Amino acid sequence: CQSIKNRTLKLIFATNNQHKVDEIRSVIDKNLELITLQEAGIDIDIPEPYNTLKENASGKSKVIFDMTGINCFSEDTGLEVDSLGGEPGVKSARYAGDDRSFNANIEKLLSKLVGKPDRSARFKTVISLLIDGRETLFEGICEGRIITERRGEQGFGYDPVFIPAGADKTFAEMTMQEKNKFSHRKKAVEKLVAFLNSL
Ligand code: IMP
Repeated sequence: CQSIKNRTLKLIFATNNQHKVDEIRSVIDKNLELITLQEAGIDIDIPEPYNTLKENASGKSKVIFDMTGINCFSEDTGLEVDSLGGEPGVKSARYAGDDRSFNANIEKLLSKLVGKPDRSARFKTVISLLIDGRETLFEGICEGRIITERRGEQGFGYDPVFIPAGADKTFAEMTMQEKNKFSHRKKAVEKLVAFLNSL
């Protein structure tokens, strides 16, 4: 196995979401070379057919490893809202339909929460890493709450309506560096980097 202590480890990040690429690039070590699907010349929309984040993350990394034979990782993230029984959860991307509209998803979420006093929620990220075909999983969680109206222009997805615990701004009102102080994705990636450093 290649350690990232002494040389560069090349990893494909199995996503087409440029926001996720930017966020992860902002936290990884310099000796980890992250290649996007686009940079690897892979133009597919990897399916996410399962009912858990873990199965979807595993499925995505396996598709790319089987196609390329290159070490890779994928991540699947969901927003769990307590008073909605954990919805939208694993269906976060397609909550309001298959066109995956961030706006329509927020609209649906806010309307379902009308009249519900408990607005607690969390983002959960699961990363599946495949090194030489062996899988390791990492998780990152960010607790917080859903506000009643959109605030901010940064970020993506549900960022305009989510305030992490300990903050008074939504993710969409934060710079990427500020979001990284709280972010589910950052926590999962930190574990991934620590694992790679330990190889
Ligand atoms: P997936 O992991 O690509 O399936 O993403 C699920 C959906 O969750 C995305 O389409 C976004 O709407 C949302 N999402 C994932 N990560 C974040 C985040 O960091 N902030 C806000 N929304 C997110």
